[in-house]
Amino acid sequence: MGTFSHPSWIEVDLGQLRKNISIIRSHIGSRLFCLVVKANAYGHGLCAVGKAAEEAGIDYLGVAHLQEGIKLRQANITLPILVLGAIHEDQIQDLMEYNLEFSISSKFKAELVAQKCKERGRRCRVHLEVDTGMQRTGVRVSTARELFPYLQNLENLDVVGIYSHLATADRPDDPFALQQIQAFQTLIQDPLFKETPLIRHLANSGGTAFFPESHLDMVRPSLITFGYVPKNAPVSLQDIAPCFSLKAKVSYFKVVKPGEGISYGHSFVTDKQTRIVTVPVGYGDGYRRSLSNRGSVLIRGKRFPIRGTICMDQFMVDVGEQEVYVGDEVVLIGKQGSEEISLKEVADLCDTIPYEILCLLNDRIPRIYN
Ligand SMILES: Cc1ncc(COP(=O)(O)O)c(C=O)c1O
Repeated sequence: MGTFSHPSWIEVDLGQLRKNISIIRSHIGSRLFCLVVKANAYGHGLCAVGKAAEEAGIDYLGVAHLQEGIKLRQANITLPILVLGAIHEDQIQDLMEYNLEFSISSKFKAELVAQKCKERGRRCRVHLEVDTGMQRTGVRVSTARELFPYLQNLENLDVVGIYSHLATADRPDDPFALQQIQAFQTLIQDPLFKETPLIRHLANSGGTAFFPESHLDMVRPSLITFGYVPKNAPVSLQDIAPCFSLKAKVSYFKVVKPGEGISYGHSFVTDKQTRIVTVPVGYGDGYRRSLSNRGSVLIRGKRFPIRGTICMDQFMVDVGEQEVYVGDEVVLIGKQGSEEISLKEVADLCDTIPYEILCLLNDRIPRIYN
C-alpha cells in the first residue's frame, strides 16, 4: 500500500534497522543474534522485518506465539524460529509442520511433544526454559537439573538450547539482574549442561546493553535493535537510532470562534479565535486516547498541541498562526526538520513504556518500508 492510498502511515527505515543490527553485532562479538519479532515486530511489521533481518544476517528469530511463527514461514523465511511462549497441546502438530523450535518448561508438555513426534515420525528442536526470577514461565533452577536428563532421553526430542529471561536488566543499578545472571551461570556450569552442546541464552536489550556477562552463546535484544537505546547505554551502542515514524496528512482546516468546545465532551474550550486542523488518526488505530489535550504533533517542522479528546479515527490540533494546508504531512512520532516527537515522550505522556505504544499501533495503519 502506498502513502497516497491511506491518510496515515508508519514509515520503517530498513536501512537504519540494518545499521542497528550491525552496531549490535559489533557489540556482541561472535555470539548468535536472535531478533525477537513478536507483536508484529514491535509494531514494525512481522514479515517485512523478519525478511530484512534474515537478509541482514540475523541468526534466529523469536516470537511469542505459534501463529507468528507460521506467518514468518509462509513468508518464506527459513531462519530458525523460536516460539518463546508456552505451547499448547493442540499446537504441537503445527509446530512440527512449520519447523518451529519452542520452549519446554514442564515434563508433562515434553511427554506430549515426544509422543506426537513419535506418532508422526518427526523430530523437534526445543529449548529448556529456566525461571531465574521472572516468575512467568520456565522451570525452577533445581527442576532444570532433574528435567534436562529426562528430556535428553525422550526419543524424537532434540534439546538444542537452554535459556532464561531477565526481569530488571534495563535498570543496571538494580542488583537483581546480576543475581539472575549468577543463578543461570551456576546452572550452566553444572557438568550436566556444560558437557552438552547447547545454545545458552539470557540477554534481552538490557542484558545486551549493560551486562556483557549475560551474552553467553546468543543474545535476544529487540527494543534496542529497533533503535531505542537508553541514555546510559555503552558508547558502542550510541549510534543506534529509531527506524520507525508515525505520520499522517492534514485532513481538514477550520477557524473556531472563542468559547467553542472541541471534540467529544468539549474537554477543550477555545479562549480566542483558534485555527484548528484535523488529523485522521485515532484510538481505533492504537493512538492512545490519553494523549487528548496532552500530546503534540509536528507540521512544517513546528510543534503544535492536540486539542480536545482523541476520537476513534481523528483528532484536532491547534496550529496557532502557522500556515498549514490540507494534505500537509503531520508527524505523530518521529522527526520533521530539526524537531522530534520521540517515542519516549509519547510513552511518558501516556504513563506507559515505549513497547506498549509501538505494539498498540495496529494494522489499520499501513507500514511503508524504505
Ligand atoms: C523471552 C524474551 N526474550 C527477549 C525479549 C526481548 O526483549 P527486549 O525488547 O527488552 O530486548 C523478550 C521481550 O519481552 C522476551 O520475552
